[in-house]
Amino acid sequence: MAKTYAIAIDGPAGAGKSTIAKRLAKELGFYYVDTGAIYRTVAYFLDLLGVSPKDTDGVERYIDELTVEIEYDENGEQHMIMNGMDVTNDIRTPDISIKSSLVSAHAVVREMLLEMQREVARQHNVIMDGRDIGSVVLPKADVKIFLTAAPEVRAKRRCEELQEKGQKSNYDVVLKDIVQRDYQDTHRAIAPLKMCRDSIKLDTSELDVDGVVQAMKSIIREKIGL
Ligand code: DC
Repeated sequence: MAKTYAIAIDGPAGAGKSTIAKRLAKELGFYYVDTGAIYRTVAYFLDLLGVSPKDTDGVERYIDELTVEIEYDENGEQHMIMNGMDVTNDIRTPDISIKSSLVSAHAVVREMLLEMQREVARQHNVIMDGRDIGSVVLPKADVKIFLTAAPEVRAKRRCEELQEKGQKSNYDVVLKDIVQRDYQDTHRAIAPLKMCRDSIKLDTSELDVDGVVQAMKSIIREKIGL
């Protein structure tokens, strides 16, 4: 099988991973894999069933009834398919953000999703973003980047994003959610968010999107010559 390239981007909620990864994927002709969307789909499924994301027994009992698939449309946009239903837009609520962070702490959930993520990377050149891509999912990724920014900057960006979509936002609530998710994602027992030793850290607090893309492109060029 031909060699495939993998670029792993990890970092906390709201650091700009998906915006940046999407742009880079388009420029490089790679698949963009948003792994957070997979956890969100699991959280949404359990939520529909009324299972609390903290209820280990409930999660273990119902998880086998879920099939999750990733599909790409003609524009290269990732769609999440839950038991045959496209839930791409349903999983983007603040409620599902917090619930997906809680759901992702369960071993049974992480085990179920691990192989599926690795399979995409075996088949395609990928830019994959998440929390444990460089550390667990693709430990041999060709490039590992840890994208971060101050919580206040991430909250401000999130609010601007919501406003652009015509949705209401409250800075204090958004900041509180971000701080809560940072804590949950870095303190869970399995595959917590952390920077690997072979990751390159990029703090985007003082950079705009173009600045981050340029910085990432020069890292990628240096590492794999693309
Ligand atoms: O990237 P996101 O904000 O859409 O992710 C939602 C949640 O999913 C996040 O708070 C933690 C979890 N997650 C994870 O545990 N591992 C990943 N690789 C990606 C996301």
